[in-house]
Amino acid sequence: MSPFKSQGYVYHNNMENKFFLNKHGDPIFVTGLQCHNSSTGSPLIEKAIRAVKKFGGNVLEAPVYWYWLEPQEGVYDVSHIRQLIQQVRDADLKLVILWFATNKNGHPNYVPEYVKTNPKKYRLAVGADGAPVPSMSPHCEATLTADKRAFVELIKCIKEEDQDYGTVLAVQVENETGLGGTDRDYSNIAQRDYEKPVPEVLRDIEIKNSGASKKDSSWRGQFGRYAHEVFTAWHHAVYTNCIASAGKEIMDITMFANAMLGDSIDEAGLSYNSGGPVVRVLDIWKAGAPAIDLLCPDIYNPGRDEYEHFCRAYSRADNPLFIPESGFWGTSSAINIIRAAAEHRAIGICCFGAESALNDDGEINDESKEAAVSFKIVNSIAPLLIKYHGTERIYPLIQEEFTVKKHIETPGYHITANFDIKRMFGKGNPSRGRGILVQTDEHEFYLSGDNVGLDFLRRPDPDNEIPYIQLKCRQATQLNFLTVEEGHFEDGKWVADFCRNGDQSNYELYANDGEIVRIRLNPHIGL
Ligand code: DGJ
Repeated sequence: MSPFKSQGYVYHNNMENKFFLNKHGDPIFVTGLQCHNSSTGSPLIEKAIRAVKKFGGNVLEAPVYWYWLEPQEGVYDVSHIRQLIQQVRDADLKLVILWFATNKNGHPNYVPEYVKTNPKKYRLAVGADGAPVPSMSPHCEATLTADKRAFVELIKCIKEEDQDYGTVLAVQVENETGLGGTDRDYSNIAQRDYEKPVPEVLRDIEIKNSGASKKDSSWRGQFGRYAHEVFTAWHHAVYTNCIASAGKEIMDITMFANAMLGDSIDEAGLSYNSGGPVVRVLDIWKAGAPAIDLLCPDIYNPGRDEYEHFCRAYSRADNPLFIPESGFWGTSSAINIIRAAAEHRAIGICCFGAESALNDDGEINDESKEAAVSFKIVNSIAPLLIKYHGTERIYPLIQEEFTVKKHIETPGYHITANFDIKRMFGKGNPSRGRGILVQTDEHEFYLSGDNVGLDFLRRPDPDNEIPYIQLKCRQATQLNFLTVEEGHFEDGKWVADFCRNGDQSNYELYANDGEIVRIRLNPHIGL
């Protein structure tokens, strides 16, 4: 075992990124923007692409529409999909395709007209009052069959158009699926399903605080107050899984489902769509939709508690964290991007509304600038986030509210991150300090960040009889470095662009505006 490992670092790479890969099979850390809903096939896509470029991102997320793909029943037209792939490829970006079909935020906006105009065959869900709600029923075989057929055409198109290029990284199956305006479908057909016993594969799943009586194998008996939501989640999971697995038979490509998370009133169908892959029903979805590789939160909650709650819930051994939608406004978004990437081991983060990130001059607008710098912080250190994913070598550095410092204790060093260094050095009124520190060897660190500087103090060996002598010795600080380099990664290899020394290294080892520095400290302190 290397001395570095023996210092107590635990390696638990249980959530490896095998989902977003380039065409050589190497992982990509996704930093992307999602265009607005109606932009595909319009000039706005070029604007969205420009926004991704300005952000320094690597992915555009864009929808394709069932009603365009199947303008008449059984007649398929994939031209808007071909065009989209080409546009993104020409821009040298990757594409995540969003399948807007049966379900778009719970609504059937994007189903073809032949579906919209035949509600007897393609049934809407029915609310508790007996009236239809504006959501397709997941208990409708006809809709499922038609959606699946169209989805297969989409995947065939991706295969034909892209298998030699690898522009399309992944496909999102439906969008924020679930039922709006009801907790379940109360139609007769759905009722018949509801009266069947809970499927065997769900029997061991318990939902916290459900108050279930467990008196029988009914949905109510097993899932108590959450019976309707769990039942609906199961049927949406199975529905989505049928579509995804039909697509995977054509081409093995990463598929994911995203969840509308809602606000703090935690009642399905009221504050969020019932049946989507929200925290409470993640295990139900995992059981019902094995062809869906990732269950993903759309996190629009800026506050730390909620944001972290969702990151923790979705970052699981069987589900690495990918955030397909989040905001890019102001400080909270900028901080949360770092939180997700460095603290919660995300494999990708996207923000919604690409075109809105640009002002009339085509530049990033003021509200989105901080998030763009956070993308830069993540991108500049991404090769190390990938290499050390799931290890304890990655440290988030975040200037939390009312703080100016953060202390990190590694086995070998006390590291103090000082925030607001721009203000100290007279560089105006900067944004919150934030960064990512990665320890790559016992005495080697990489720091990317903005408005953050580091002080190192070598920790005395546990066997040192008089540790205080070392603690007071200037040679045990960062003054004792070998090299401090500004640089960048090229094909995963570090390239040094500028060597800092003297005034540029003696006061603070800093990173600003998303830059990255490599710091090699000297293990020989002369004591
Ligand atoms: C979440 C949806 O998934 C997106 O398509 C978009 O409608 C955003 N909400 C708008 O905030």
